[in-house]
Amino acid sequence: MKKYVVGVVGASGAVGEEIFRVLEERKFPVSKIVPLASERSVGKEVEFMSQSHKILQTTHDVFAKEGVEIAFFSAGGSVSAEYAPSAAKAGAVVIDNTSHFRMDRDIPLVVPEVNPQDIAQWKQKGIIANPNCSTIQMVQVLSPLHKAFTIKRVDVSTYQAASGAGKRGMEELVMQMQAFFAFKLDEVESAVFPHRLALNVIPHIDNFMPNDYTKEEMKMINETNKIMHSNFAISATCVRVPVLRSHSESISIHFENPVSAKEAKEILSRASGVVLCDEPKEKLYPMPILATETDETYVGRVREDNFDKHILHLWCVADQIRVGAATNAVRIAQKWIEMQEA
Ligand SMILES: NC(=O)c1ccc[n+]([C@@H]2O[C@H](COP(=O)([O-])OP(=O)(O)OC[C@H]3O[C@@H](n4cnc5c(N)ncnc54)[C@H](OP(=O)(O)O)[C@@H]3O)[C@@H](O)[C@H]2O)c1
Repeated sequence: MKKYVVGVVGASGAVGEEIFRVLEERKFPVSKIVPLASERSVGKEVEFMSQSHKILQTTHDVFAKEGVEIAFFSAGGSVSAEYAPSAAKAGAVVIDNTSHFRMDRDIPLVVPEVNPQDIAQWKQKGIIANPNCSTIQMVQVLSPLHKAFTIKRVDVSTYQAASGAGKRGMEELVMQMQAFFAFKLDEVESAVFPHRLALNVIPHIDNFMPNDYTKEEMKMINETNKIMHSNFAISATCVRVPVLRSHSESISIHFENPVSAKEAKEILSRASGVVLCDEPKEKLYPMPILATETDETYVGRVREDNFDKHILHLWCVADQIRVGAATNAVRIAQKWIEMQEA
């Protein structure tokens, strides 16, 4: 099997570090690893396959110079905007974790369990986009239900972990919790989040748009229909909660026809990438502490609406750094390789 030169832009970040772990676990065919970050990290080392590798600076010519064939980008939208085209021009396939290219018509937006066929469009710009973390876990649940029963409308509320805002987000929550136990919570400042997150919930993720939704909410709305090739109505409320890792979502789904919870559970129990975890009497339902450091989306609390037989409610949780970023990106790369070698 051919091995590939793999670049990771954002190698020192939350998603970048997880990409190394997922590549190792999946025995990804790597001939050489090229960790890249900003000037600040040059010379720092990352561990990959029991060896240390020095981080290089992300520049326009580093991709050609190092012979990068697969480039994962997880360093923010502006970094992808500037450097992803250079990586693609140097012959690499770019798998981008940022929001920068997601709604570009010429760039596929892929969740391998849902629309793997779209990867074939990668050649148009040499870039494949990884969806928003909250969107990925939601479409993994919605897609099999839509195929079976046809969705008319979705209403989702998210409960998003601090690490969704990167390493600094996690650090800020830990620092605030420490301040709480030192009776100094009133003295803490919030730099990453718009308010103190410890012992609080914040209905505000990313910037507000003119329609009073946030960018994060509009990402969930727009990306879902692009990935699923659907056009149902959808509304989202995205909320930051004081959890370190793994996003949770409460989803209400309105179908064309009446659907029972039993029928939906049967479909979900067979869905790829999804684990049905729904034994409320045994106190078994998805929670961040169960999903963390796993590669599945857990779904439970599946129940019928009390007033309308067309509506079901459910709850899903996934590790957003893995399912919502690193694992999805590596799965895309694995599918891309299968297609190249077919
Ligand atoms: N965290 C999540 O759950 C999650 C999920 C899905 C998608 N994403 C997306 O993935 C991206 C990275 O998120 P993260 O959570 O990993 O953030 P993070 O922990 O803050 O890491 C950011 C990474 O970007 C690098 N970087 C910053 N400026 C750079 C520059 N000018 N040139 C090259 N590298 C630069 C940083 O390197 P230095 O250390 O050198 O500054 C660091 O490696 C974001 O676009 C985010 O929206 C995140």
